[in-house]
Amino acid sequence: MTSQNALITGNSSGLGKGLTQALLNKNYHVYGCSRQGCRLTGAISDIYCDLNDFESIAATLQQLLKSVSHLDLVILNAGILGELKNMRDTSLEELQAVMNINVWANKIIFDYLLSSGITIKQILLISSGAAVLGNKGWGAYALSKSALNMLGRLYAHEFNDTHIMSIAPGLVASQMMDYLCTEADSTEFPALQRIQKAQQDGKVLSCEQAASRILTALPHLKNYPSGSFIDLRQILAPDEYAELMQTRNPS
Ligand SMILES: NC(=O)c1ccc[n+]([C@@H]2O[C@H](COP(=O)([O-])OP(=O)(O)OC[C@H]3O[C@@H](n4cnc5c(N)ncnc54)[C@H](OP(=O)(O)O)[C@@H]3O)[C@@H](O)[C@H]2O)c1
Repeated sequence: MTSQNALITGNSSGLGKGLTQALLNKNYHVYGCSRQGCRLTGAISDIYCDLNDFESIAATLQQLLKSVSHLDLVILNAGILGELKNMRDTSLEELQAVMNINVWANKIIFDYLLSSGITIKQILLISSGAAVLGNKGWGAYALSKSALNMLGRLYAHEFNDTHIMSIAPGLVASQMMDYLCTEADSTEFPALQRIQKAQQDGKVLSCEQAASRILTALPHLKNYPSGSFIDLRQILAPDEYAELMQTRNPS
C-alpha cells in the first residue's frame, strides 16, 4: 500500500511539532520545514526554510518533495504573533513582518503546490479565533489571520481536486502562548485575561492534545465547502466557543 504523505510548515516547535508526532503515529511520512529543524525521529524528511526568504521557498520545497507524487495532507502551520499593541502604535513595518510569514509566504507555497504537479487531497491553514474576534491589541496578527482565511477561500477556486480549510485550533501551549501569558499586558489588552485564566485553570491544550483534536476533525472538515473557515471550538467545544464570543471586546 502507498504510504500517506503530509507536508507541514513550522514543525520545529509547538503545534507543528505536535502535529508531526501525531502524523508519525498514524504512519504518515512527514515532510517538514522550519528554521530550527524538527528533532523528532521516524519517517520524517526535514529541510531548513526561512519563510521570510520568499525567493528560496519554491526551490526549497521542490528539493524537499522531489520524490513525492501525492500529498494526502498539507498543513500550513508556521506563524508568528508579533507584539500585542494598539493599532496607532503599530508601524507598517511591524504589520508587514507578520503578514510576510502568516500570509505572503503561504501565497508562495500555494503557487508552488499548484505548479508542482503533486496530487493533493487536503490543505489545512492554521488560522486563529483572532481572525474574526477583533480584540484590542491583536492588530497585526488579527489582520494576518483574517487575510489568511480569505487567501484559502480564493485559492479554493484554483485547486479543483483539493479540499482547503482554514481552522482555528483553540488555545495551545506553545512559545506563542508563553508570550501571551507572561509578557503581554492584560490590563491594556483585556482579552488576554480569558487566555491567562484558561492557562491557570489548565484549559490550554497541550500540543499533543491540540494535534489529536485537529486530526480527529480532519474527515469532518470535508463536509464544509472548500475555502471555509471554522473555529474547531464551534464543533468540538461549544461551551468554550460561547464564552469566547461573550468575552469578545465590544467595538
Ligand atoms: N498557540 C496558540 O494558542 C494558537 C492559537 C491559534 C492559532 N495558533 C497558530 O498555530 C500555529 C503554530 O503556532 P504555535 O503556537 O505552535 O507557535 P510556535 O511554537 O511559536 O511555533 C511557530 C512555528 O512557526 C515556525 N516559523 C516562525 N517563523 C518562521 C520563519 N520565518 N520561517 C519558517 N518557519 C517559521 C517556527 O519554526 P522556526 O522558528 O524553527 O523557524 C515554529 O515551528 C501558528 O500559525 C499560530 O498562529 C496558535
